[in-house]
Amino acid sequence: MTAQRVLITGGASGIGHAMAMVFESAGAQVWVTDVDADALATCPADWGKACLDVTDEAAMATLYADIEKDWGGLDVLCANAGTSGPAANIEDMDLADWRRCVSVSLDGAFLAAKYAAPMMKRQKAGVMLVTSSTAGFFGYPRRLPYAAAKWALIGLKETLAMELGPHGIRVNALCPGAVEGPRMDGVIERESAVTGKSPEHIRKAYASGTSMQTWVTGNDIAEMAVFLASPQARFVSGQTIAVDGHTYNPDPAV
Ligand SMILES: NC(=O)c1ccc[n+]([C@@H]2O[C@H](COP(=O)([O-])OP(=O)(O)OC[C@H]3O[C@@H](n4cnc5c(N)ncnc54)[C@H](O)[C@@H]3O)[C@@H](O)[C@H]2O)c1
Repeated sequence: MTAQRVLITGGASGIGHAMAMVFESAGAQVWVTDVDADALATCPADWGKACLDVTDEAAMATLYADIEKDWGGLDVLCANAGTSGPAANIEDMDLADWRRCVSVSLDGAFLAAKYAAPMMKRQKAGVMLVTSSTAGFFGYPRRLPYAAAKWALIGLKETLAMELGPHGIRVNALCPGAVEGPRMDGVIERESAVTGKSPEHIRKAYASGTSMQTWVTGNDIAEMAVFLASPQARFVSGQTIAVDGHTYNPDPAV
């Protein structure tokens, strides 16, 4: 098999970076995009890189033109960029914060898929993975825009799988649980400020609300992404796949 050509948005850190590492070690060529130029600069020299905001359509169009020129096509899109958004009760939530959180997840995945679809249709093959969350299965009190965006991604995945399936393109959603790292440290800090619960309490509650009493790692998510993009998963499409130790109580304040 020739090397898969894989594009990962939000790929300079966290889960996206882990995806890039694991895809590459499985033999793929990777291209990462990120809004954080400093983080991008620390990525391996052999990765394709684009510094852009996923909500910027013109930048996305230029990226895909570059991919077309350098790679001649795209096998796998990981529409992964997302922000955790504010932690606040609804009455204290700013419209601008709501919009930004929803836009990065949802507009970002829409635009990445919009430009990937014609390439993949032409190839009559391709895989799209959108990074939703356990927040795409449950309500998350005080994380309204995040949960709304992550549920919306499930609708996007479901519809795209139907629209693109006849063209040989598979579309699935990945739902990570709580992933160790600086991003969740920030979420816990904000949760603590709004609920009055200690950071230690919240950290433990993320694990104790799962059957396996656990957090997960970026690598756990990346390994699933590589499997879903592989020929072994050739008839897996339209699915919402959690990698979270089975969350059953998502409210970290409980
Ligand atoms: N960390 C978790 O516990 C967790 C759990 C479930 C789902 N997720 C989802 O996984 C995805 C990756 O999150 P992560 O934990 O790796 O976070 P992260 O903050 O470590 O990484 C996200 C990356 O996306 C980039 N980014 C943010 N806004 C962007 C934009 N507008 N355009 C381009 N790049 C942008 C950031 O600079 C960063 O490098 C997100 O969609 C997130 O919602 C994370």
